[in-house]
Amino acid sequence: MSIKIAETKHKVIDLIKNRWSARSFSDKTISETDLHTLFEAASWAFSANNAQPWEYVYAHREDSEAFQKLHSCLMGGNQPWTKNAAVLIAVLAHKKLENGHENKAAKHDVGAANATLMLQATNMNIFGHVMGGFDPAKTIETLNVDTEIFEPVVFMALGYLDAPEKLEEPFKTRELTPRARKPLNDFVKRLQ
Ligand SMILES: Cc1cc2nc3c(=O)[nH]c(=O)nc-3n(C[C@H](O)[C@H](O)[C@H](O)COP(=O)(O)O)c2cc1C
Repeated sequence: MSIKIAETKHKVIDLIKNRWSARSFSDKTISETDLHTLFEAASWAFSANNAQPWEYVYAHREDSEAFQKLHSCLMGGNQPWTKNAAVLIAVLAHKKLENGHENKAAKHDVGAANATLMLQATNMNIFGHVMGGFDPAKTIETLNVDTEIFEPVVFMALGYLDAPEKLEEPFKTRELTPRARKPLNDFVKRLQ
């Protein structure tokens, strides 16, 4: 099993260090109860006006027709390894606030909810992988998305971890490549 725990300079909590975007998923299914724990975790993310502008459309791998619908919306580079995910999720943003105005924070808040979901998953030994590589037009058609209201933002694959050797290249190499981050002084500026 490849474990890609972040090596941090500062005392970052284990939950954050232990989350990484896996591709090799085992046959083990995720129960509906555990999955709903993840969705509830997502719902406790902060959001502008507490609008909670996220929408999760999911399918378990064993519900093969529904799973295939979501899988077919992914780009070629994401299809080989996501076929083994326990669950696939299309994540949509609700574009409007209750007063009908555009919610300019919608995608920010969807990202916050996804991050919260992933940290809860990490705590439950479930691995996830967010993907921007999907076909928006196909997703809208396949899921019958009302584009007046919703916009597809990302897809997500979830599952329990398996060995990287199960993957074909180039995914196996990616699974084994250590994670890296920019140094803090690249993106943190202290005003004085
Ligand atoms: C919005 C977004 C889109 C992404 N799209 C893809 C994708 O299409 N395919 C993929 O393999 N990984 C995708 N990723 C995963 C990133 O490559 C990954 O998070 C990044 O390399 C950092 O690795 P880590 O999550 O393991 O720390 C995406 C992540 C985000 C947040």
